[in-house]
Amino acid sequence: MCGIVGIIGCHDISTELIKMLHGLEYRGYDSSGIAINLHGNFQIYKKAGPLSILKKEIAGITLKGRSGIGHTRWATHGAPTDTNAHPFLSSKSSVTVVHNGIIENYKALRDKLSDNDYIMESETDSEVIAHLIELFTIHNPDWTFNSLVAYLSTTLKGAYALLIQFADKPNEIYGLRFECPLAYVITTKTVAISSDIASLITYDRNINILRDRQAVHLSLEKEELINFDSTEVDKLHVNVDWDIKAAEKSGYDYFLRKEIDEQSNSVRALKSALIESAGKINSFIKNTNPDSVIFIACGSASYSGVFASVFARQLELKQTVSWEIGSEFRYNPPIINEKTLVIGMSQSGETADTVTALRYAKSKNAKVISVINVVGSTISMIGDLTINLSAGPEVAVPSTKAVINQFIASMFFIEVLRTQDQDSLNKWLSTIDDLAVAIKQVIAMEDSIKSYAKLLAGHQNMFIVGRGLDYPISLEGALKLKETAYIHAESMYAGEFKHGSISLIEYGMPVLILLGDKSVALKTIINAEEVATRGGQLFIIDSLEGEKFDFSSEVNYIKLPHIKNPFNLITQIVALQLLAYHAGLHRNINVDRPRNLAKSVTVE
Ligand code: F6R
Repeated sequence: MCGIVGIIGCHDISTELIKMLHGLEYRGYDSSGIAINLHGNFQIYKKAGPLSILKKEIAGITLKGRSGIGHTRWATHGAPTDTNAHPFLSSKSSVTVVHNGIIENYKALRDKLSDNDYIMESETDSEVIAHLIELFTIHNPDWTFNSLVAYLSTTLKGAYALLIQFADKPNEIYGLRFECPLAYVITTKTVAISSDIASLITYDRNINILRDRQAVHLSLEKEELINFDSTEVDKLHVNVDWDIKAAEKSGYDYFLRKEIDEQSNSVRALKSALIESAGKINSFIKNTNPDSVIFIACGSASYSGVFASVFARQLELKQTVSWEIGSEFRYNPPIINEKTLVIGMSQSGETADTVTALRYAKSKNAKVISVINVVGSTISMIGDLTINLSAGPEVAVPSTKAVINQFIASMFFIEVLRTQDQDSLNKWLSTIDDLAVAIKQVIAMEDSIKSYAKLLAGHQNMFIVGRGLDYPISLEGALKLKETAYIHAESMYAGEFKHGSISLIEYGMPVLILLGDKSVALKTIINAEEVATRGGQLFIIDSLEGEKFDFSSEVNYIKLPHIKNPFNLITQIVALQLLAYHAGLHRNINVDRPRNLAKSVTVE
């Protein structure tokens, strides 16, 4: 969470910093701030609330200076107030700092600073960093980049990406990466550094990515990259081929709606990526010859693992396929060894819980495949093999196109475990073209979906139920409705309802039934009837072949175009996304940035 940026060499520095922060607001929008270095004096502006409030604050003020740093915050320690906003200035105004991550030993560091007469202004864990650096430079007047990095990396415990500026070095920025992302570009006129490549590509597409435990010292004249432990540096460059428009709203009211539309293209992009890497995946799996496969992820990304585990059973795979939530995994791990294949799913590639779980799996000799959507991300560097979801940049906080590609990629891994035959795999992948068409057809049904969304928007609680392959889809639908429309949607195995939760059914309570898994559809319908008999208001999403099913009471029925199983289940996710999107709009929610969330969850 939190986004940090820095830039050297621009004339209109505040505009550039705000522009860069704009591309990072998905990482947190509790407050934002900038610090500009003008001839050795810092001008700092910071405000609680989204970036638009800071923009208003500085409108009409001429801010000179040729370098600066900025921050957008997802609050962890200290409420989202002006005082707790970054950047932080050291007591003697010699250092400014922006921080992404958590300093776990900040209380001890605060005590140390108070012993040296430093007074904290904020309640944050981050403020200590600015004062500590100042104190370090006072005690070590001959400090160097290496000694500063050695000091910080041994003093700070936790996770951090840091940008540091010194008052007396107005055209220099120092950056450190420890378990939080950081990347930079250098052009002849500008140096820019950021948590995310999305805010760098306007300057240059040739991106330098800091590896974990690396630090960089940047100026227009100099680039110095070092490892925390002074070992030899292995530089990482990536060339990003995104169209800059991919990260713009392009006439849509919300990124979320735009990203739903982009899905028919993004599934095709994944198809190409999988065709290209099918050989590699195939031989990796052959060499590993796993006894068990474990999908590890968090939130929506984890549901693709649930889907894979059900799919694997339906195909009667010889390996056990299971799924684990990243945040639980390390503390309650299953048996893992060199015959375990772990597949880590993460669109951001930075989710701390997934990162630590994957590292744990590696420490137990498991073979790891990382599946990411952001090149150069932390998780991309953990895997023995890395696969790119190729969904393109996703800006809305609720994930759509990346999630759909996670589901498809998970299905593909199961297919590879079932058959190593390249022709069968290519044939399987060709169904993605039908899916791309079906996604468009579902989106064309938006008006009727919207009318059902309006009905749902009037309720605070609902259930989404399914059996078999429909169950993981219900998990994803429920999470989308929770985060995008603030409706407490509970996902449930259809057959489990009668074992307790059915007592919550009273007249008008919405229950959404998913009918995409043919093998269990008739059973699910019996469960739906049990709900309708007790006054529940039924909504149906049906992607099966054939006519609509008959129900004994009136139902709100969405009949989707049919495509080959299990791809038909993916079309249900699209219908659920549209339901959540329109329910959110009816409830006046900023669906791109629902409250309390951030897109990249880099804290445990
Ligand atoms: C929901 C959503 C989250 C993410 C989860 C994992 O729409 O976006 O539940 O799926 O935070 O994120 P990644 O995929 O970045 O690891």
